[in-house]
Amino acid sequence: MELPPFELERWLDEYEPDADLMLAESGVRSLPVDRFDLDVGELGYVIPTDGSPEFRADIAERYDRDPEEVVLTCGTQEADYLTFMGLLSDGDHSVVVSPTYQSLASVPAAIGDVTEVRTEPPKWNLSVDAVADAMRLDTQLVVLTNPSNPTGKYLGPETMQALYDLVEENDAYLLVDEVYRMLADDPHAPAASLGPRAISTAGVSKSYGLAGARLGWVVADRELADTVRKWKDYTTISPPLLGQHIAQQALGEQEADILEANRTHAKSNRDLVAEFVERHDLDWFEPTGVNGFPTIPDGFETGKEFCRSVFKAESVVLAPGDVFGYPNRFRIGFGLHTDELEEGLERVGRHIKSRN
Ligand SMILES: Cc1ncc(COP(=O)(O)O)c(C=O)c1O
Repeated sequence: MELPPFELERWLDEYEPDADLMLAESGVRSLPVDRFDLDVGELGYVIPTDGSPEFRADIAERYDRDPEEVVLTCGTQEADYLTFMGLLSDGDHSVVVSPTYQSLASVPAAIGDVTEVRTEPPKWNLSVDAVADAMRLDTQLVVLTNPSNPTGKYLGPETMQALYDLVEENDAYLLVDEVYRMLADDPHAPAASLGPRAISTAGVSKSYGLAGARLGWVVADRELADTVRKWKDYTTISPPLLGQHIAQQALGEQEADILEANRTHAKSNRDLVAEFVERHDLDWFEPTGVNGFPTIPDGFETGKEFCRSVFKAESVVLAPGDVFGYPNRFRIGFGLHTDELEEGLERVGRHIKSRN
């Protein structure tokens, strides 16, 4: 199996270390560790290695599923990866909705064959008919992020039900990466609650501001969850003990406070980006979450050219749309602290003006 370089991660690695301001982070600003109890006793593996039974039961309840259908992982990235490894065999076909986070397309393409279903601006609506047309007799999996990274489109319950019905009719699975879901003001039911043919992956990185906890999960039917357990023995063995302890508090007694603060923060920062987009005559879809995907300003050929010149002139990192297959756009992450966002927008705005 041959994986291509992860273009977004390579881009960030090149520019982030020397930059003053990072407007390309996709999650909400990180929480300080001192708001959590950190006493886990001895720093061993999590036993049982698929996660604490109480925590898995709590997560299962959120999806209306059985605790045995939940496996805790090292972040959502591992949850997605293990799902692909567990479900797909050499040559299996997947349908992937784009634009998306690269691993969700690259891993199934490295194992088998992928048909991309592109969504388009201004609304980034997904045509379920287009997904149906892309499916083949041997399609195993339909994959999407909801809310989307990078567009921030949040597909509603009717579309999700129609997708579910489609995969069920075709004996396939629906994998929905829902790592941004809890940033929605009023999240609708998660994918895995639709039935056994749907798989949800998520974690505490993006919506809770706890990327360093490296705690995620897969919710899938028992057979697939067991296959994920089997694969996990070869990757990270167990989820991180400290990350699990922090995540339990974040999803427990602290959840209401964290989510309310993060949603309020996302909304006020989103308003700042909306003003910026309007002031500079760009187009965007007003997103759910903390990522937007505006058009690049006039005078630049590609997202890479624009983002590179912003970095050189103003030391601000943005993510070029090229790495998502949409080179006339860039992704702006606005989950960071508001004063940093204001400073970043000011600098990017100054650069755009200097070029026009
Ligand atoms: C859609 C999506 N899934 C997974 C990840 C990785 O998340 P985690 O930090 O939980 O591994 C990202 C990171 O940007 C993402 O955008």
